[in-house]
Amino acid sequence: MRVIRLFFKGIWMVIKFILSILILLLFIQQVLSWAAYFAIVKPKANDIAQDITSYIQINERYISKEWVHNYVTARKSSGYIKDSEHITIIYSQPSNDRRFEVTVYLSGTYLSGLADPTIVVVNYYGVNYGDLPEEGIYFNYRPDGYEPDTSTSMKIVEKVIVEAAVDEPSIDEDLAYLGTDFYFTEYEMKAIEAMQSSCIACHGMTLEGLVGPSLINLNEKYSKDEILEIIVNGKGNMPAMFLDEESKIAIVEYLYSLN
Ligand code: HEC
Repeated sequence: MRVIRLFFKGIWMVIKFILSILILLLFIQQVLSWAAYFAIVKPKANDIAQDITSYIQINERYISKEWVHNYVTARKSSGYIKDSEHITIIYSQPSNDRRFEVTVYLSGTYLSGLADPTIVVVNYYGVNYGDLPEEGIYFNYRPDGYEPDTSTSMKIVEKVIVEAAVDEPSIDEDLAYLGTDFYFTEYEMKAIEAMQSSCIACHGMTLEGLVGPSLINLNEKYSKDEILEIIVNGKGNMPAMFLDEESKIAIVEYLYSLN
């Protein structure tokens, strides 16, 4: 009896030992994977998203899938993005909104396969100060060519952008900087487009003044008719502007609403 009991006790000890080793190994692997997550993958995904975001803001233009392809290819050839890493870049910007969203998904094999963090997702929101796309853009770029159908998610993304903008202080600052609302009605878009070709060269991109004075808070100074009069006949060093009737009215309404 004693011998049998001792025998089972021995087996139990061996099982306990193996279990502890397994748990320890799992623990070590988890720690390594966290280390890879925080030390390598997260900063890299952040870098990439930031790169793309500042490119758009500095160059004042939205980007195409080809641009992203060239960007990823360049970063791969410099060795920054490894062949073993999977990267997906999602870019979206609605046609009537200066805000855009960049999402980077990154995953890979790190520390010789011991630590593979689950996919890292980084979201960036920015403001495109330049031209707006004619149609909303939403693309999902993966260098291996696999591309899930995302055409139906545009609406959802627009919602995400709006929600995010509400709690992002930087976006609020950008809003203040532009001095105008981000969502434009069709009528406001008409005014903005007309002003982009006829007025901003002298009055500045944000209408805060350049060669000509600021066009913000005009309603404290002029009536709508007087603004129209200035556009039609010019004033001082400002030449008369030749525009179609609808653009002129749209501009007057828009300028009058800016304060
Ligand atoms: C070639 C440069 C130029 C362009 C283009 C131009 N402006 Fe001007 N604008 C000026 C200058 C300079 C003044 C200051 C005139 C003065 O008071 O002597 C001015 C003044 C004005 C004023 C009066 C501002 C004030 O506070 O008195 C308004 C309004 C105005 N511009 C609107 C427009 C609009 C709208 C457009 C586009 C349709 C436009 N301007 C295009 C140069 C320009």
